[in-house]
Amino acid sequence: MRKIFVSPSILSADFARLEQECKSLEKCGADWIHCDVMDGNFVPNITFGMPIVRSIRRCVVLPLDVHLMIERPERYVRQFAEAGADLITIHVEATDNVAETLELVRACGKKAGICVKPNTPVEELIPYRGLFDMVLIMSVEPGFGGQKFLPSAVEKIRSAKQLFPDALLEVDGGINRDTAKLVIDAGVDVIVAGNAIMNVSDRKQAMDQIRGNVTL
Ligand code: DX5
Ligand code: ZN
Repeated sequence: MRKIFVSPSILSADFARLEQECKSLEKCGADWIHCDVMDGNFVPNITFGMPIVRSIRRCVVLPLDVHLMIERPERYVRQFAEAGADLITIHVEATDNVAETLELVRACGKKAGICVKPNTPVEELIPYRGLFDMVLIMSVEPGFGGQKFLPSAVEKIRSAKQLFPDALLEVDGGINRDTAKLVIDAGVDVIVAGNAIMNVSDRKQAMDQIRGNVTL
């Protein structure tokens, strides 16, 4: 059985207790920590930037999976890399300089991810093949946690798997134990989940259920 990575989103965390929240995720078996950076322009919400990523870096040893929902991310790639991001994902819709931005991420010694919003076909990523390590398929409109999973993401995961067999495939938005099964069957490698992990009493069980390791 292939390994499914779980990357809990701290968007749904209690930010006043961020250290305990991140350590709890590490202890409960998270593979990565997903950091949602929003600028109020690319998406209609504002979250946090480099200082918080730097603080999280000091609390845990897990890889930090930084999802940049910001306009012209090339302006900040270097700073997120220095803050301790391990994987930096940009949106194909966010810049006219996609190839250069992906190259910059790699030049900083980090893994590069490329993301598509629900209405952007994965075929738009074809020109950048070879420049990224991971494709992130959004299964909700980016901006907020707690939204309903869009089933159209399943077919996009299948297409991405065929088009980019060497890249990791990640999905983000509305994932719970039921929708996780759909995306795992379609070939996803990395599952982001906010509400389904952060807002339950047993986070370890929630992650196991998402991975499909328990039948309860
Ligand atoms: C949405 C973010 C997601 C979000 C997922 O724009 O990119 O990472 O936190 O939250 P859930 O799992 O609650 O949909
Ligand atoms: Zn995200």
